[in-house]
Amino acid sequence: MLSIPQLTKTKDYKSIAVLTSGGDAPGMNAAIRAVVRYALASGLEVHGVMKGYSGLLEGDLHPMSASSVANIIQRGGTILKTDRCAAFFKKTVRREAANLLIRKGIDALVVIGGDGSFAGAHLLEKETGFPTIGIPGTIDNDIPGTDDTIGFDTAVNTAIDSIDKIRDTASSHDRIFIVEVMGRSSGFIAAQVGLGGGAETILVPEQKISVAEVARTVERGAKRGKSSSIIVMAEGEKPGLSYRVAAALGKKGYSAKVCILGHTQRGGIPTAHDRMIASVMGASAVAFLLAGKSGGMVGIQNGELKLVPFKQIADTRKKLPLDLLNLAQILAT
Ligand code: F6P
Repeated sequence: MLSIPQLTKTKDYKSIAVLTSGGDAPGMNAAIRAVVRYALASGLEVHGVMKGYSGLLEGDLHPMSASSVANIIQRGGTILKTDRCAAFFKKTVRREAANLLIRKGIDALVVIGGDGSFAGAHLLEKETGFPTIGIPGTIDNDIPGTDDTIGFDTAVNTAIDSIDKIRDTASSHDRIFIVEVMGRSSGFIAAQVGLGGGAETILVPEQKISVAEVARTVERGAKRGKSSSIIVMAEGEKPGLSYRVAAALGKKGYSAKVCILGHTQRGGIPTAHDRMIASVMGASAVAFLLAGKSGGMVGIQNGELKLVPFKQIADTRKKLPLDLLNLAQILAT
């Protein structure tokens, strides 16, 4: 069970701000609630920034009270809204953001988001010295330095629920289905969903597999009497990849249907697990700030909460355990 790190308060902060950035993830609201309520309980004022870094640049900040985060722990999405802000890549813009926060009397910033959002947070603190801390919120679970991210568990469960349904129709019609899950450049969702959903083959950006190999797996299954198959694949960088794989399989004599789960994986009621990690991470972010620790992300490592420096995360990739893909294949054929 996770617990909040025991830290000594060293900072006399009066006010902090919190924003959500990048793709939304179920459980972000639970994290906002935890940041706001833990900060208020610690005697701080809290401002919610609307629409991520874009809202920050526009000064779209609002005071948060305990009741402003009431009844949101179970809601998907983010009440603060979110954005992918290209302008924040500019150094001058980050300086403006820090100045604005200082003018508003804010002492530190909490950023809930993924690796792109943390790249901005890293540079903001490095260049301006403005205390900034990250909470990993992304369905992709692709951030190095943390075993888990808020939203991953919900997204995986949403996708598995769909696969169970697809299985019914696949088996009734003796069909092959290619189920495309999210993950532009990482296969964590695909690996977990494929293994948990009993897929024959899992295709991820981290590993190249030829269509001939996919066809061979389908053939092996067919030889032992399988009449339907599920192939799980991550969406990858270029839209429509699953249709191209289906067409290539078709040329080898295997007709496959495609089902793209898309943004359904980003929404919905967060699982108990995501709400729990969001609550502990949110509170811990405030505890770290009050102890004078910033410039990093609150990460979970082997069941413990750590402050992982942003520079440790920058330009590194989280390694997907590829043996899971092999295991899925062994278990499904
Ligand atoms: O980062 C989360 C994520 O859902 C990825 O899995 C996906 O590739 C991407 O965001 C989609 O982003 P958008 O909704 O901006 O198209």
